[in-house]
Amino acid sequence: MADETKPAAPANFKVTIDNITIDVAPGTTILNAARQIGGDVTPPAMCYYSKLQGSGGKCRTCLVEVAAGSTADPRPMPKLVASCRTTVMDGMVVKNITSERVKDARAGVVEFLLLNHPLDCPICDQAGECHLQDLGYEHGKEGTRYEFKRRTFEREDIGPYIQLHMTRCILCYRCTYVADQITNKRVHGVLDRGDHAEISTYISKAIDNDFSGNMIDVCPVGALTDKTFRFKNRVWFTKPVDAHRECTTPGCCGKTTLWLRGDDVYRVTARKDEWGEVQSYDGKTGWICNTCRFDKKKTSDWVIEGPTKISRHSVISQGHYVGMVKPHETVQKVMGGRDPKLLMNIHDVSEVNPDK
Ligand code: SF4
Ligand code: FES
Repeated sequence: MADETKPAAPANFKVTIDNITIDVAPGTTILNAARQIGGDVTPPAMCYYSKLQGSGGKCRTCLVEVAAGSTADPRPMPKLVASCRTTVMDGMVVKNITSERVKDARAGVVEFLLLNHPLDCPICDQAGECHLQDLGYEHGKEGTRYEFKRRTFEREDIGPYIQLHMTRCILCYRCTYVADQITNKRVHGVLDRGDHAEISTYISKAIDNDFSGNMIDVCPVGALTDKTFRFKNRVWFTKPVDAHRECTTPGCCGKTTLWLRGDDVYRVTARKDEWGEVQSYDGKTGWICNTCRFDKKKTSDWVIEGPTKISRHSVISQGHYVGMVKPHETVQKVMGGRDPKLLMNIHDVSEVNPDK
């Protein structure tokens, strides 16, 4: 018998995004409805992060066109709206990649995001997994119209583990939400306004609390990078594997991705989902502590589960082989059993970028 005291669950809303119709729960944002469809229909999101309360509404990369507001009021919305902050209505019709206005506006947003950006991808550790780089390739132009000197900042040291490159920051605020919501002590934030706004620590205090490393994982660009990995390797030369350990830090899930080269652990990160966000386990976000991230750099510290699933479109998948068996060495075979003496390891003679 139905429980009459229990209020009936509200009926789902029908929303159509780029001609694909789905049912979603009331209160769902357009962005999350699009994520349920997946693929190219999903707008890019540089500041929204589903695991961080209050995130979104800063970067404007997720703008979409609402061609019909709802079944009750089918008038279009006059301006493009931020899909991460706009909830769906029943009968809403949304255009993302099917809208020329959206494509044009997004190209404009990318141009603004890159206005002061140093475009230093060739030496940036985020290259290969940078959402701004992807956005630039998808919507950017090869030239710039900007004629003025790019904005620069005083160099700021924010502690032993995290490198801050303020010129790459897009002020998405994600790292400040991590500090507010995940660590027990936020010592940094966005200081000043407008053109002068910057991420900074108060009175140059180092960010040294247990979960501060998660700021690196949420930063969509190369503004916050891992000092223990800095300049050591390119991500596409490393092999990511899923691993776990029994971590005793309260709040740490102990589930990570190890970025290996041979048997050396070059970097440890939280595991990411298809949207580039930290994955959840049992309803909880899989944040990891600084001990797992920065101190456990031996394969013997971890139980390795197997290769991390990487999108086939990602440059990281270039050096990714499935299974734990290394490919057979074939040089000797093609040289009739002789050792390849002419092939030498550059690291034997050069101190630049040593492989250890
Ligand atoms: S440092 Fe990174 S995460 Fe923090 S506001 Fe800048 S871009 Fe966002
Ligand atoms: S992701 Fe919506 S405004 Fe940034």
